[in-house]
Amino acid sequence: MCNPFIMDHPLIQHKLTLLRDKNTGAKEFRELVSEIAMLMCYEATRDLPLKEIEIETPVAVAKTKVISGRKLAFIPILRAGLGMVDGVLQMVPAAKVGHIGLYRDPETLLPVEYYCKLPTDIAKREVIVIDPMLATGGSAVDAINLIKKNGVTNIKFMCIIAAPEGLDALVKAHPDVQIYCASLDEKLNDHSYIVPGLGDAGDRIFGTK
Ligand code: PRP
Ligand code: URA
Repeated sequence: MCNPFIMDHPLIQHKLTLLRDKNTGAKEFRELVSEIAMLMCYEATRDLPLKEIEIETPVAVAKTKVISGRKLAFIPILRAGLGMVDGVLQMVPAAKVGHIGLYRDPETLLPVEYYCKLPTDIAKREVIVIDPMLATGGSAVDAINLIKKNGVTNIKFMCIIAAPEGLDALVKAHPDVQIYCASLDEKLNDHSYIVPGLGDAGDRIFGTK
């Protein structure tokens, strides 16, 4: 693995193009975020350990495989991360879901925490943090600080678009975290929005602008 692992699968890249388009409305945007999250989850869980078990088919006994090891939890960063939850749960329906609420202060651009509710057994789980956008990296770094404080040792971060600045910040703060994204974009603009990006993910998912 390398940081970041860029998911260049044609289905993901095609859907990402539709997502970036400013003419894509909220309904289609939400559906695309969910579909991309599902496809990315498929790839991000490729290294889950398997163990062999025996089951009986109608014909014979078969030695076959099931997922073993630590159970999974997804942690969306509110709000925009919520848009990815349905998609990842379609891949791993038994996973638990924790929530961390952070918003970027428009003046300082620093993340402000307003909510945290994690599964009680979170320390025993492998965690995948989900948020469509990694811009300055402040939100992801703070969310992962909080998750580590709760005893979690095995963490992945999955975003749709990353900026080089956010990627550097996240890798510096949490070198142990494997990062997955669909695109590493060019840069941040003066307002710390990702260029070319897709605009404000939360506003586009929830139609708030
Ligand atoms: C967006 C996005 C990330 C954050 C990324 O959330 O969903 O959480 O910005 O920016 P950063 O890497 O510079 O921290 P936002 O703060 O706009 O809140 P929202 O999801 O509630 O709209
Ligand atoms: N948050 C977003 O939603 N979009 C950006 O481009 C940067 C931060």
